[in-house]
Amino acid sequence: MLTIALSKGKLIESALDLFRRAGYEIVGLSADSRRLIFVSPENDMTFLIVRPSDVPTYVEYGGADAGIVGKDVLMEQESDVYEPLDLGFGACRISVAALRGEGANDRLTSKVRVATKYPRITGSYFNARGIPVEIVKLYGSIELAPIVGLADRIVDLVETGGTLKAHDLVELEVIAQSTARFIVNRASLRLKQEPLMELIRKLRAAVRNEGAASGNGRPPAVGMRKKKMVRS
Ligand code: PRP
Repeated sequence: MLTIALSKGKLIESALDLFRRAGYEIVGLSADSRRLIFVSPENDMTFLIVRPSDVPTYVEYGGADAGIVGKDVLMEQESDVYEPLDLGFGACRISVAALRGEGANDRLTSKVRVATKYPRITGSYFNARGIPVEIVKLYGSIELAPIVGLADRIVDLVETGGTLKAHDLVELEVIAQSTARFIVNRASLRLKQEPLMELIRKLRAAVRNEGAASGNGRPPAVGMRKKKMVRS
């Protein structure tokens, strides 16, 4: 029996759809279910529904054999897990943003206060540029921080850009791209090699078929590439 940790929230619907396309019909588990653990005897799998930021922990420490989580979370946590598959869905970017008209001070050497749920990514980004930074760790609704004077900048996920726009914020620079990843516990890969390799093979085929159907024939490139400034 394989135990798979799925991120609740934005990724779960696409994750369940991917399993279905890969040939695993998971009867009774849906995105709006309140159940946190779901046994699927017909697939010899147990699904755990956990917070996205907890998925790498479950997988790294063996609470789950594998999981699906955003690259953003993996980059932030630097967990020791095997990451065999870019699943292509959940595409978004981690960006620096500020209130419109307040992005011009980027090259100042005075301390910049940045609100984020990604303290590690934010710290490395500003440190690499030699900009002194004070990080304000938040857990959500990051866009509020500059509006109430809690921070000069935010580092947050941008998907459609709708939330930034709704709060009169502009994207200053893209730090990294993110998509959902399939991750595997390193010990499980040895101990449950056969079922895991079969699952990876089927998921990979489903991702490829989806890529072919959408025209590009392959999943998007892996993240952490520096992007050009998108100052507006
Ligand atoms: C994420 C992110 C942004 C928003 C971006 O928030 O933190 O707020 O989505 O999406 P958009 O570019 O399509 O508007 P989420 O919905 O996960 O909630 P949170 O504020 O609790 O983090």
